[in-house]
Amino acid sequence: MGYYERFSNRDSTPHSLFPTPYLPLDKKISIGYALPVTERLSRGGAFAQKYGPWALVTGASRGLGAEFARQLAERGLNLVLAARSGSQLERLAADLARAYGITARAAVVDLSRADLLNALRPVTDSLEVGLLVNNAGLSTVGPFLAQDADYLLGQLHTNARAALVLTRHYGSLMAARGRGGVIFLASGSALHGTPWSAHYCGTKAYNLMLAEALWAEWRPLGVDVLGFMAGLTRTPGVEANHLKPSRLVPLGSPERAVRRALKALGRAPSASDGLRNHLGYAALGLMPRSLATRVLGRSMRVMFGSRVGSRE
Ligand SMILES: NC(=O)c1ccc[n+]([C@@H]2O[C@H](COP(=O)([O-])OP(=O)(O)OC[C@H]3O[C@@H](n4cnc5c(N)ncnc54)[C@H](OP(=O)(O)O)[C@@H]3O)[C@@H](O)[C@H]2O)c1
Repeated sequence: MGYYERFSNRDSTPHSLFPTPYLPLDKKISIGYALPVTERLSRGGAFAQKYGPWALVTGASRGLGAEFARQLAERGLNLVLAARSGSQLERLAADLARAYGITARAAVVDLSRADLLNALRPVTDSLEVGLLVNNAGLSTVGPFLAQDADYLLGQLHTNARAALVLTRHYGSLMAARGRGGVIFLASGSALHGTPWSAHYCGTKAYNLMLAEALWAEWRPLGVDVLGFMAGLTRTPGVEANHLKPSRLVPLGSPERAVRRALKALGRAPSASDGLRNHLGYAALGLMPRSLATRVLGRSMRVMFGSRVGSRE
C-alpha cells in the first residue's frame, strides 16, 4: 500500500502518491514518475547546487508535502521532513533515503505553536538548509461562524505565522550565503474572496503576497522565492472536506502540481498550476469583484454541497 492510501484510508486512486499495488520505490521510479532524463542531466544537478544540500519541507507527512519530499529527493537533496505525525515522517524519511540515496531526518513539530523554531532548530542548526517549502496548511470548508475561534487562530498560526517565522529564520541564513529558495503554498483562492473558505483564503493571500514581494526583494541576494497557486489536488486534506467531483473543477495529481512548482522556482514570483487553472483565474480577474466572489460561492456550493450551508 502506498503513502497516500496508508494515510488517507481511501481506496486506491490513479493520483496516489505511490501507486498501488505496492511497488518498491526503486521499481516505481522506472515506470513513470522519474524525472525526465533531460531534466535529470541538465536541471537535477544544477537544482541541487542552487537549493541544496538540505531542504526543509513542512507538512511532509502526507499530500503535497510528501510529494515535494519525494521529488526533492529525486533531485538529490537531503531532507528535513516536518509535521506532527512522527511515525509517518520516520517511515517516509527511511523510504526516501533508501530509494534515492539521500539523508532524511524527521522533525516532529506543531507549527501552530509560538515556539515552533525551538522544535526545528535542534535538527537544522548544523545543516545548510538551501530550500524551504512552506507547505503545511489546514483547509476547512464551511460557514465562517460555524468554526471555533481557537481553531481559526490555530489555522492562522499554521498557515501564515509559521511561514513567516520560518522564512525569516531560514531566509536570512540563505541570504547570508547568497543562494537558496523558498516556496510558499498559496492557492487560487488567494486571489479572490472565496465564500465558505473565508479564513483559509485569507491565509493563502498572505502567503502569496509575501512570496511575490520577497521574490523582488531577495533576487539581488541570490534567493529565489515562489508563491505556488496549487489547483484543486487530490490529497487527504481535500478528501477530508468531502469534495464532490466536478467536471468544472477537476482534481489534479500531487505529482504534477509539485513538478510544476519546482519548475517555476526561480523563473517567476508566482505560478499557477496548469493552463486550465490559469485561464480560470484570468477570467475571474476580468469580472467585477462582487461577481467573481459570487461565482466562487456557486462553485463551492457545487463542490461541497451541504457543507457550505443553505444560503448564499
Ligand atoms: N490539495 C489542494 O487542493 C490544495 C490547493 C491549493 C493549495 N493547497 C495547499 O497545499 C498545502 C498542502 O495541502 P494538502 O492538500 O497536501 O494538505 P493535507 O493533505 O491536509 O496535508 C497537510 C500537511 O500539513 C501538516 N500540518 C497540518 N497542521 C500542522 C501543524 N499544526 N503543524 C505541523 N504540520 C501540520 C500535516 O501533517 P500532520 O497532521 O502530521 O501535522 C500534513 O502533512 C497546504 O498549504 C494547502 O493550503 C492545497
